[in-house]
Amino acid sequence: MTDSYLISGGHPLKGEVVLSGAKNVALKTIIGALMFKGEVTLKNIPRINDVLDLIELIRSLGATAEFIQKNTLIINGDSLKSNRVDLVNGSKIRVSFMLFAPLLHRFGECFVPNPGGCRIGARPIDRIIKGLITLGIKVAYNSETGYYHAKIINKPKGNYKFEKPSHTGTELLMMIGLMTGDKVVIENIANEPEIDDLILYLNSSGARIVEEENKIIIGQTSELKQKEAFTIMSDRNELVTYATLAVASKGEVIISPINENLIGSFLEIMKKTGAGVEVISNFKYRFFNKGEIKPVDIETSPHPGFMTDWQPSWAILMIKANGQSVIHERVFENRFSYVDELKKLGSNIKFIESKVENPSDFYHFNYDKNNAYQQTIKIIGPSQLHNAILNIADLRAGAALACGALLAEGESVVNGASILERGYEDFVEKVKKLGGEIRKI
Ligand code: EPU
Repeated sequence: MTDSYLISGGHPLKGEVVLSGAKNVALKTIIGALMFKGEVTLKNIPRINDVLDLIELIRSLGATAEFIQKNTLIINGDSLKSNRVDLVNGSKIRVSFMLFAPLLHRFGECFVPNPGGCRIGARPIDRIIKGLITLGIKVAYNSETGYYHAKIINKPKGNYKFEKPSHTGTELLMMIGLMTGDKVVIENIANEPEIDDLILYLNSSGARIVEEENKIIIGQTSELKQKEAFTIMSDRNELVTYATLAVASKGEVIISPINENLIGSFLEIMKKTGAGVEVISNFKYRFFNKGEIKPVDIETSPHPGFMTDWQPSWAILMIKANGQSVIHERVFENRFSYVDELKKLGSNIKFIESKVENPSDFYHFNYDKNNAYQQTIKIIGPSQLHNAILNIADLRAGAALACGALLAEGESVVNGASILERGYEDFVEKVKKLGGEIRKI
């Protein structure tokens, strides 16, 4: 099986990138489609491994899903026949737990496996299960089988306030709210723009979801039926990956289409490095190297802050910055799997102590004082990188490793291409278009 990249790095990358659709909207709109009556057409759906795995999973439950063009997907959930998510198919993709919503909607009860551990931290769904129960769903967990059994006794209603916001949690409870006979209010929500896109999609098909400051109110919906095809937003994570890569390689890239409000915090921080950031038109940006890259510290946080998904790409840029910079990860634990790998390329990165007064409030994961977390790194730049053999452990780290190899002189092998391709469409083709030497082996 070809699951590695052979990369010959060290050249400036220059050219244009057209962004694919956002993974973290595609997955939810596909799951949401199973709550609709009849066919749903989704456009701009990236053909990435996570989407392909999800399509397999929903087909195994009886739904139909076919690409009719490269990025246009037609889904029909009317033929769903099973309310039990298969353990093997379900375990391939973490968002499988979001199937609680369509399966409860169709069958009134369902069996969904615990998504379990994940490469970027424990990633429990405790807050989400608590939300389901608070809204009136009966949920029992069988620790022997690893399955949740959820059942609707009465239609969901009432208020749920997240102790700490959760992105997919907000989305799942919102979809559960669509089944209310009255009203559901979700408070202390996540504010990611991907959630806004999901709301737009559901509301354009008959849902009554209103977003107010830090809460979402869901009114009774008689039926979800699509009036016209829905086009999902662009992937802002992809933009950050290519923009940092181009500037770090002393090159330049024009990226479109993207709306400024999706990447505001990134643009602000990018400008502080001294890199060129030019708005070509409303949806088109040019990022270019202007000589010295200044080191800039970042701390990740939910929207509108600097996103956790962007920090591995930021490390790539900071390796080429002139001085020391710090990355402090607040959203997930274990999001530094790339550190030891990037060191193999000759970068100078160290874990340092995180100085935080009240860690249980500061971090977005469930903080346990007995754990030895490593949440902060210091990068001492600039480093001349050399070739190495690297191993990808998680999606965003994967993009950082491939980009690191593109900056390094000589031939590198990056193993685990399929992990990177869970979230990046046409990675090889897009890098080649920028002049990068990369091929699958
Ligand atoms: N958390 C809990 N309990 C819960 C829910 C969340 O402890 O019940 C913790 C998580 O473990 C994490 C923090 O709370 O430490 C925030 O998690 P959140 O639920 O907001 O993240 P998520 O919904 O699991 C989504 C994206 C991530 C993205 C984050 C932040 C999808 C499929 N995933 O994850 O995307 O980093 O929101 O915006 O939408 C990626 O694309 O590579 C990726 C990881």
